[in-house]
Amino acid sequence: MKETTTLKKSAQTDGLSRVDGRLKVTGAARYSAEFNIKGLTYGVLVGSTIAKGSIKSLDTKQAERAPGVLTVITHLNSPKVPGYQDGKPTGNGVFKIFYDNKIYFSGQPVALVVADSFERALFGASQVKAQYNQDNHQTNLRANVNTAKAPHGDGTYKRGTEDAWKTAPVKVEQEYIIPSDIHNPMELHAIIAQWDGDDKLTVWDKTQGVQDARDEIAQIFKLKKENVQVNSKFVGGAFGSALRTWPHEVAAIIAAKALNRPVKVVLSRADMFTSVGYRPHTWQKIGIGATADGKLVGITHEAIGQTSTYENFTEGTVGVSQSLYACPNVNTSYKLVALDVGVPTWMRGPGEATGAFALESALDELSYQLNIDPIELRMRNYAQTEPQGGKPFSSKYLDEAYKMGAEHIGWNDRSPKPGTVNENGWLVGYGMGGGMFGAYRDGATVKAIMMADGNLILQTAVSDIGPGTGTAMVSIASEMMGIPAEKIRFDMGESSLPQAPTQGGSSITASVGSAVYAVCKDLKEKFQQLIGNGGTDKPDYAQVLKQHNLAKLQVTSSAQGGDERKKYAMFSWSVHFVRVKVHPATGVIKIDKVACVADSGHIVSPKTARSQIIGGAIGGIGMALMEEVVFDHRYGRIVNNNFADYHVPVNADIPQIDALFVNKPDPYINPMGAKGMGEIALIGMASAVANAVYNATGKRVRDLPITPDKLITMDVELS
Ligand code: MOS
Repeated sequence: MKETTTLKKSAQTDGLSRVDGRLKVTGAARYSAEFNIKGLTYGVLVGSTIAKGSIKSLDTKQAERAPGVLTVITHLNSPKVPGYQDGKPTGNGVFKIFYDNKIYFSGQPVALVVADSFERALFGASQVKAQYNQDNHQTNLRANVNTAKAPHGDGTYKRGTEDAWKTAPVKVEQEYIIPSDIHNPMELHAIIAQWDGDDKLTVWDKTQGVQDARDEIAQIFKLKKENVQVNSKFVGGAFGSALRTWPHEVAAIIAAKALNRPVKVVLSRADMFTSVGYRPHTWQKIGIGATADGKLVGITHEAIGQTSTYENFTEGTVGVSQSLYACPNVNTSYKLVALDVGVPTWMRGPGEATGAFALESALDELSYQLNIDPIELRMRNYAQTEPQGGKPFSSKYLDEAYKMGAEHIGWNDRSPKPGTVNENGWLVGYGMGGGMFGAYRDGATVKAIMMADGNLILQTAVSDIGPGTGTAMVSIASEMMGIPAEKIRFDMGESSLPQAPTQGGSSITASVGSAVYAVCKDLKEKFQQLIGNGGTDKPDYAQVLKQHNLAKLQVTSSAQGGDERKKYAMFSWSVHFVRVKVHPATGVIKIDKVACVADSGHIVSPKTARSQIIGGAIGGIGMALMEEVVFDHRYGRIVNNNFADYHVPVNADIPQIDALFVNKPDPYINPMGAKGMGEIALIGMASAVANAVYNATGKRVRDLPITPDKLITMDVELS
């Protein structure tokens, strides 16, 4: 009984602290590159210095003779990869590493040098000499928009009248541009590959999904799934870059086979800029019109994003304009420009983060034209049902979120006239921007084992990229079983464990949490059967096992969504509020205060949820103010592929960020009533910052990032 009281307090007010927090901060948690496998060797990739063409010659002799070098793998000597032997070149979603002499982007691996130490491999890699036949490359999106093509069909969506915004009494038409943003988690992508004979493979791999990685690797190397073991026990951050299997992983597996020794490949920070995807550079144009009293008449949203020549990457950039507001006339178009660059990939809030920057900036511009408060404008166009098809929402408390955030940031102190508030020589402004993301749920299976000592073990193959999945799952099990969190162990990150989806799309708490819920329910039922009539809801499990002479009691259960998705439109919602200070002479921007409000249904794990919102908000601030891939188009190369030149927010850039939750359960999505929050933590943030900067300065910046140089010619009087 005492235990239950303690649990209720900790689980319902503060929430559990991270169950693996101690392991992480003491260095005891082992990440993929940190396993000391017997006989381990070290691989370093050599990247192409041209962006397009072919390899004329590769001289690897000096590298092979370098101290400690064991082998140099290139397209000239690479063992055949069974999954590559379909006669087709790289393309259609498969990048075939070391397959032929074709070059598709600068930084493309042309050799892997393997040595008995990392340092010797690095030196060996410096000795590889490549000569190329260079073709003319195109790496500039804006110079190539005339080649934009719809990825499928004609890429358009329409409801009501096309371009109806043009007929509205009040309108805005503007272009919004985001550069490419790079995933820069603390942990570099890394893999250790070890073969056991010809047909068994184990990898320790940074991945967001051990079972999807297993399936992809099994397919590429034509192995039985059960002969491939993928381990990813701890992941040091990932925002989408580890959602798929990349060429460097294949390279390590090829080399391990060739050498018959385990091979480790860790990407360099520079490799992270070319080899594991990024948020694509995207041009957007929004036309938006309203009646004088602020009712939306129409939205037209066009987007053109960059992709690679060998694979199309698509994302839902224009989706927010279709679904965020009640607007009778909406048309959108989405196109891609294929460039001689590495393929982009999903990055936190993929598509929506890009689209929301444009839409929520445009709405802000409209609010000033209408002279209506930005929140009031949103409330006048509040979608009570899903605007595309009229389905009811499973839950939507965005209106409450607006109120909570406005109150928290002190929205009443905002001047509706830009550039009018000066505080000790700094211009002060407030801005807000909203986000939405589908609330998804996949099937998952969890095994629960109650041990004789009353400790509970839960097992499933999910990996945790940082949000605190283990903590959330232990919270759910603790509530369900009525035992303290300290008595629960959550095993994950191994592909041989029961089925779980890849951690992505803000869906894991809903998916795996439902299976934890189900397995705990089933386990309790099993105990009730043992106890017979008259048992309590929360028995002393160890006592019951002892009475029945059992060493343990275990059950495996699965859970998946039903057809509630057919009846309801399911989304998570967020709104971000920002107070900024801008120095009028230098254009320096200080983020002064941030309040983020999430409608993520019931909050299962309050502490880790708060951290997740803060992390997403920081990502959004980076997107707004700092992050930008810079190409030298003469060479088709990224010139700022390091932390000195590619800026991400550091502690000094970030003030206190307050995460607030509506915390009302969604009645339909899953038994916990929990919706996702990983993506909405970021979506809308960049617009909130841009809108605050406008409110402070009267300067509207529509091409991110908002660097000081874009602000030092302000439309306001310097005081
Ligand atoms: Mo995320 S883009 O679903 O890792």
